[in-house]
Amino acid sequence: MASSVPSLLLLLTAFLVNAASGASPVLIIPGTGGNRLEAKLSSRENTAHFYCSKNADWYDLWLDVKQLVPGAIDCWCENIQLNYDSSTSTFSNQQGVETRVPCYGDVCGIEYLDMSVKAGDSAYFHAMIEAFADKGYVRGETIVSAPYDFRYSAVSNKDNYVNATMALAEQLYEQTGEKVLWISHSMGGLWSHYILSNADQAWKDKYIEAWVPIAPAYGGTAQEMRLFASGDSEGIPLVSGKTVRNEQRSYESNFWLLPNLELWDSDETIITKGDQTWTAHDLPQFFEDISYADGAQIYKTLPYDLKDPNIKTYVKYGAGKDTPTSYVYGKDWDTIDKTVNGDGDGTVNIRSLEAGIAKGWKNTEHEKFDGEDHQSVLKNDSLLKELLELAGV
Ligand SMILES: *[C@@H]1O[C@H](CO)[C@@H](O)[C@H](O)[C@H]1NC(C)=O
Ligand SMILES: *[C@@H]1O[C@H](CO)[C@@H](O)[C@H](O)[C@H]1NC(C)=O
Repeated sequence: MASSVPSLLLLLTAFLVNAASGASPVLIIPGTGGNRLEAKLSSRENTAHFYCSKNADWYDLWLDVKQLVPGAIDCWCENIQLNYDSSTSTFSNQQGVETRVPCYGDVCGIEYLDMSVKAGDSAYFHAMIEAFADKGYVRGETIVSAPYDFRYSAVSNKDNYVNATMALAEQLYEQTGEKVLWISHSMGGLWSHYILSNADQAWKDKYIEAWVPIAPAYGGTAQEMRLFASGDSEGIPLVSGKTVRNEQRSYESNFWLLPNLELWDSDETIITKGDQTWTAHDLPQFFEDISYADGAQIYKTLPYDLKDPNIKTYVKYGAGKDTPTSYVYGKDWDTIDKTVNGDGDGTVNIRSLEAGIAKGWKNTEHEKFDGEDHQSVLKNDSLLKELLELAGV
C-alpha cells in the first residue's frame, strides 16, 4: 500500500508536466450576462418597493435567480440599471450601489453563474472547463477567464479591460512558455475582436496561438432592436419585457449588439408598427420614436467594426434554429403581433455569426453545428474535442 503512493504521485507529476508542455493555456472571454457581478448597497433608496434592501454587504447581483422573481425583480432592476449623463456621455451606478467583478484571472465567475443552481444554463462554462481539467489543466492557472462588467462596452472600457486582458494573456504565456488559445462566447466575440483586431501584429504573433469565437454576435442581432423597443424578458418566468426595459436600455453593451450596418441593408425592415417601419439604418430616428432620446447619442459612440482580425481564427456556431429577423408591433410597444424568423442559433442571426465570410477574413475557418443553439453549442461534445485539439492536448 505504502509503495503505491509514490508511484501514483510520479504518474500524476508526469501527467501534469506532459499536459503543460506543448499545450496552450486557455483564456476564456464570456458573453454578456456570462459572468458573476457583485454589488454592495449603502443607504440605497429604491423607489420600486418599501421592502427593497437599503444596505447589503457584497452579494451576487448577477446571477441569483431568487432576485428575479416577481416583486423582487423590481428592486433588482433598479439596482443594476446604469445612469447615463448625457452632458459628459458617461455611465455610472445608481445612488447607494457599488459593483465589482469577481474571479478575474480565474474561472470561478463563469463556470457557474448562479452559485446556488449548479445545473442548466447556470452551468455556463462548466462542461468546457471540465473537459480541459480532465486533461490536466488547472483552474486559475492554465485555464483562466477575463470576466467583465457586461453592462459596459469597449467605449467605456470599464476597469481598463482591454489592457488588463492583454496583460493576462502575456502572463499566461510567461508562466507556461506556450501561446494562448483565446476562446470567446457571444458578446465576448465583440470584445475579443476589438482587442485582437487593434493589437500589434507582433504582439499577436508572440502571445496568441489562435482565437476561437463561439457563437460570436459580432455583427449584432435583429432582436436587439426589440430589446430597446419593448424590453426582452429573456425567458424569465412571469416577467414581462416592460419590467426590464429601462434596465436593459441603460446598458452601453446593448448598443454594441445592435444590427451592424455592414451586414443589414437600408431596405431591410426589422421593426414595423402601424404604417411605420424601421431598418438598422434608421436607428437614430428609432430611438426618438421609442421615446429614448439618449439612445441616439449613445449609439453614435459605439465601434461597429468588422475588420479582419488578422489572426488564426476558428469560428464555431450553432445554426438551423428559428432566429428573429423582424417584428410587427400591435397597438403599443408592449405588444408584438408577429415575429418573423430566419436562420441562426436562436439568438444571433446567421449573417452575424458568419460575418467573417462576408468580410473575407483571410485566416479564418467557419464551422456550423446544425441543431445547436446559442448556449447548447458550448456543451457540444465534438466542439469540446476540437478545442482540446486546438490547444494541442
Ligand atoms: C494601455 O496600454 C497601452 C500600451 O501599453 C498604453 O499606451 C495605454 O496608455 C494603456 N491604456 C490605459 C487606459 O491604461
Ligand atoms: C454536436 O454537433 C454536431 C454537428 O451539428 C451534431 O451532429 C452532434 O449530434 C452534436 N453532438 C452532441 C453530443 O450533441
